[in-house]
Amino acid sequence: MNIKATTDYVSEINRLKKNKNAIILAHYYQTGDIQDIADFVGDSLALSQKAASNDADIILFAGVRFMAETAKVLSPGKRVFIPDMNAGCSLADSCKAEDFSKFIKDNPGRTVVTYVNTNIDVKALSDIICTSSNAVQIIESLPPGEKILFGPDRNLGNYILNKTGRDIVIWNGTCHVHEEFSLEAIIRLKNENPVAKIIVHPECELPVRMVADFIGSTASLLQFTKKDNSSVYIVGTEPGIIHQMKKANPSKVFIPAPPRDSTCGCSECSFMKLITIEKIFRCLMDEIPEIIIDHEILMKARKPIVRMMEISEKLGL
Ligand code: 13P
Ligand code: SF4
Repeated sequence: MNIKATTDYVSEINRLKKNKNAIILAHYYQTGDIQDIADFVGDSLALSQKAASNDADIILFAGVRFMAETAKVLSPGKRVFIPDMNAGCSLADSCKAEDFSKFIKDNPGRTVVTYVNTNIDVKALSDIICTSSNAVQIIESLPPGEKILFGPDRNLGNYILNKTGRDIVIWNGTCHVHEEFSLEAIIRLKNENPVAKIIVHPECELPVRMVADFIGSTASLLQFTKKDNSSVYIVGTEPGIIHQMKKANPSKVFIPAPPRDSTCGCSECSFMKLITIEKIFRCLMDEIPEIIIDHEILMKARKPIVRMMEISEKLGL
């Protein structure tokens, strides 16, 4: 098929979606054009909830692999595709199952709470999964005094430890985007825009979190910009989210927080940005690459994911 313009891809994608009864789920870190063709755009938790309850036969996941794997676990009867299998996650890759298994053995008697940003074999070792939207509530849902092991993000782990005061041992992993924000540059931007509010994701390092006016998951950062009355925001997370922030608040200004160092001079997640409109079209058309998970691993990973979904539902999250 000879397709030249983005508009051609968009109409072909829409045609394929209809013919195949497929839906596109997109994370906030995807480019604006992808968010605009998606049937649903959200953070990790909302995307999992949508993956668990929809009438489609096919889910095309515009995001990274751990998100598509979670969708497959929650909807094992559906076919789940990701347009580029290389769309991994530096945080998930900082926690290999065999090393995490040893970490659990070295810290016996602890409930293993694992961030959704992990590969499926690490989820299979866990007692309960959380996302950045529900991490604090998941920890608080455990009986007081329960000893906890958390992985893999040390910054999110430190954030929930400070919030809950629980006994938590934390795996030493980080995300290549969120650990790179430059505190100096953020403070300089704040001095140039004194009315600006600094809003950051909990995966950011402590010094960055300490200067923030608000800390939250991508969905709660977006929500904050809708309710708050400031006109300028310095945004300390992947800049894809700014697409929705601008849509929701056309008169407000959003400044991406700069990184200390990066090849693009921006804070884009190189894995998220592997997904393109053209790859989405090819993936829907050819039905590859597909997320296939070994049945035993899927069943082991399903338990802690379902536990998270049930607690979230009970808490109205
Ligand atoms: P959310 O849980 O806020 O969607 O974040 C996912 C993520 O990958 C953060 O880097
Ligand atoms: Fe993973 Fe970081 Fe990209 Fe989120 S931003 S998907 S944690 S590498």
